[in-house]
Amino acid sequence: MAALDREIAATDGIAERISLIRSHIPGRIAFSTSLSIEDQAVLDAIARSKADIDVFTLDTGRHFPETLDVIAASEARYGIKIRLLAPEASEAEGLVASDGVFGFRQSIEARKACCDIRKVRPLRRALEGAAAWITGLRRGQSGGRLDTPFASFDAGFALIKLNPLADWPLQTLERYVADHNVPINELHARGFPSIGCQPCTRAIAPGEDIRAGRWWWESPETKECGLHKPSQKVA
Ligand code: ADX
Ligand code: SF4
Repeated sequence: MAALDREIAATDGIAERISLIRSHIPGRIAFSTSLSIEDQAVLDAIARSKADIDVFTLDTGRHFPETLDVIAASEARYGIKIRLLAPEASEAEGLVASDGVFGFRQSIEARKACCDIRKVRPLRRALEGAAAWITGLRRGQSGGRLDTPFASFDAGFALIKLNPLADWPLQTLERYVADHNVPINELHARGFPSIGCQPCTRAIAPGEDIRAGRWWWESPETKECGLHKPSQKVA
């Protein structure tokens, strides 16, 4: 994994990084998109590179309508299909029946239970049998992501996890989407640099941390939904 990590680091251009990944890894490579500005840059690069990558999103049932707009705009722009993974109906119904419709505000445990049913379990389903998983994680997103490698073995999912944008600062990302006319969520321009489910995301004030609007009632240490374990070092 260390060799692939170094090769990605030495490769300029996100489309070139995607091509490199595709050429090194046989089998299904799945890209999880939250339709964020990061993921839209990765999607543009996948389309540009023409690499065969399975693109999916976790449809929690709680997204902003503006996020759904990005799905439709991207499918039209790139001529692709984004696979939507829904939570198991019986699990989502059971959770709401026991905790209430906004049960995730009661406690960190209740919040994590909601993320588990609406995100983590569908993610596990999407990644079953995949050889590798591409994400839009960047080191600049939060203190907990500072060590994000380009390539590592994810023991939890038993596959190679790839973060081709790991070293990109926000400015590089913003320049990329502007230069390539990439469709992005209109909420970004309204104070939402990081967007998750509607009831768990608010706009930030100028100068606030870019993830301050996510689960804003919790302290920074708990603010992960369980999709990403603290980054594993490159083996
Ligand atoms: S989160 O853990 O706080 O929700 P964040 O929104 O920063 O994650 O996104 C980081 C990466 O996680 C994205 O680039 C994407 O690969 C994945 N991800 C997050 N939310 C989703 C989602 N709803 N569907 C698919 N992938 C997602
Ligand atoms: Fe549930 Fe909020 Fe997690 Fe979405 S972000 S799955 S609504 S707790």
